[in-house]
Amino acid sequence: AAAEKGGYDFYMLKEIAEQPQAVAATLLTRMPDLDFSGVQKVIIVACGTAYHAGMIAGYAIEQWARIGCDVELASEFRYRDPLIDEGTLVIAISQSGETMDTLMALRHAKAQGARVLAICNTNGSTIPRESDAVLYTHGGPEIAVASTKAFLTQLVACYLVGLRLAAARGLSAPGVQEALRAVPDQLRTLLESSGAIRELAYDLATARQVLFLGRHVGYPVALEGALKLKELAYMHAEGFAAGELKHGPIALIDEGTPVICVVPAPTDALHDKMVSNIQEVRARGARTIVIAEQGDEAVAPFADAVIPVPATPALLAPLLTTVPMQILACETAAARGHDVDQPRNLAKSVTVE
Ligand code: G6P
Repeated sequence: AAAEKGGYDFYMLKEIAEQPQAVAATLLTRMPDLDFSGVQKVIIVACGTAYHAGMIAGYAIEQWARIGCDVELASEFRYRDPLIDEGTLVIAISQSGETMDTLMALRHAKAQGARVLAICNTNGSTIPRESDAVLYTHGGPEIAVASTKAFLTQLVACYLVGLRLAAARGLSAPGVQEALRAVPDQLRTLLESSGAIRELAYDLATARQVLFLGRHVGYPVALEGALKLKELAYMHAEGFAAGELKHGPIALIDEGTPVICVVPAPTDALHDKMVSNIQEVRARGARTIVIAEQGDEAVAPFADAVIPVPATPALLAPLLTTVPMQILACETAAARGHDVDQPRNLAKSVTVE
């Protein structure tokens, strides 16, 4: 089994390390034969980690293609009798292609006349078979229950769809293709310097709760960081939109509460807002672990620890900022003595509703 894990202690660590190749391979994915020109509305359905990829995709699709995009948990989708017609493109995101809630959502969408595009990591699985078109991610088999490389490749696939939708409307997203091509090397750099993240995990392991804050695409990244920690370390972890802090979550903070903060690039309109949020939680005793762009000097005075990530356009940042979250959760769980690959009560693929 050690050989199958490529020398790593866990499949999850091996799969985290495979992300540069997985992203590079998915960037070469062939676009499916689907006419994007009549699309008037996009709805994304997914569960778990794939849902977080969908949330991020929603920002990119609206920004680049200027098409309204709803993102919905597959298990909730049918029950609000969603407005769907022939102009609706439903995107179902699923690593396994077998998640029952996502399958039922796509069947509902098809029955209402929508076209369905699957983004999937498993050849020939049920969700792509029942969809009008499929874009396969090239993550390779993912064994660990907690999704890592599948998540990053889902993001890449979503970005490619976003660019295609934009092109179909005569719009473009300058610089994005080039920036995407740089991501595999940036991931390698990030992974090489991940030793410091391991140190942080030892401290996190004894915390009573861990909070995650982000804005814009940093918000789903915060949700994903919290989900990973729940899944693997069995710790109380919550992700919040940083702007919501004062509407409730700030009451959770007391002396020493670890708060993991995802900061947009210094050039981003939301950068300073996020920095003030970090100041606010720190003033209440939080221990702040800040994920920020390399060279961002403004965060240093308010950070107990900084995890630097390479620079990329705002909408692509989750491809990089998620990785420290994955390592933190994995190492924190290991420090607490848990089986990282087979967390209790969870299944890799949930084939019941
Ligand atoms: C399960 C897994 C999660 C995964 C979710 C959706 O809950 O434990 O890691 O994100 O299902 O799976 P899918 O295969 O549809 O992406």
